[in-house]
Amino acid sequence: MITQTKRYPPRWSVLTIGVAMGLALAAWAPVRAADEATEALSPSARDWSFSGPLGVFDRAALQRGYQLYREVCSACHSLEFIAFRNLADPGGPEFSEEAVKALAAEHSVQDGPDEFGEMFDRPGRLSDYLPSPYLNNNEARAANGGSLPPDLSVIIKARTNGPNYLYALLTGYEDPPADFELADMMNYNPYFSGRQIAMAPQLFEGIVEYSDGTEASVAQMAKDLVQFLTWTAEPKLEERKALAMPVLIYMLILTILLYASYKRIWRDVDHD
Ligand code: HEC
Repeated sequence: MITQTKRYPPRWSVLTIGVAMGLALAAWAPVRAADEATEALSPSARDWSFSGPLGVFDRAALQRGYQLYREVCSACHSLEFIAFRNLADPGGPEFSEEAVKALAAEHSVQDGPDEFGEMFDRPGRLSDYLPSPYLNNNEARAANGGSLPPDLSVIIKARTNGPNYLYALLTGYEDPPADFELADMMNYNPYFSGRQIAMAPQLFEGIVEYSDGTEASVAQMAKDLVQFLTWTAEPKLEERKALAMPVLIYMLILTILLYASYKRIWRDVDHD
């Protein structure tokens, strides 16, 4: 008969593993604490009219969002996928065509060459894309202390939890904690990765006078920008959702009909 004398695992190895884990934890804890000071907060969830299977945009908010973009954000950010004519498209801000023509004409656009081979400036028209504030990325960086203001067309899709993130980012600026090392020309914002962002706060109570008379509180402006930039990221959102419902109803009716015909075909067949 064999008797087992050795006990597994031996006592010394349990001890070694225990000590090693303790040391690792001790080394990890301060690193973790440092991470927490710069780790971005997750934005809280808000209700948006465009979420859910039947969601649509708030038309007035889209128009206010465009006004804000034009008067504030367009100084630094382009919206290169949006043409003036899109502002009159169904499912968007739906400005009248006359209004958009007038908006476009306020911009001067370079065109050409003419018959002498020269480029020339002309007033903007419906088919023109919204003008960029800078000639190229280098100029954009030079004007912003080395940081590039990204194109905003699809920023909502490019960030996790886009709408809630943008709202939190725009309204979340605060004073840095005493022990936070804020780099030169940076601003403390706990929702941005690393918690410091080169963009200064942009929204201040009353910074625009809304043409529809809505009070321009910081929260209101942030909500309007979320609506507008969600539309620029997905201009066909309403069309897509409007299409989904009839398709679902069609599938439901088809299922009922198929089930009924199945019952009918197998009616006289003994199942046992
Ligand atoms: C004076 C220039 C300036 C103006 C005006 C401005 N921004 Fe910015 N913005 C920047 C810069 C610079 C960055 C890049 C920040 C960085 O990388 O640290 C930026 C970054 C951003 C980002 C990207 C954040 C991310 O997650 O990467 C968003 C979104 C944004 N801005 C939205 C807006 C909106 C909306 C407005 C209008 C209310 C606006 N900005 C007005 C300069 C500006």
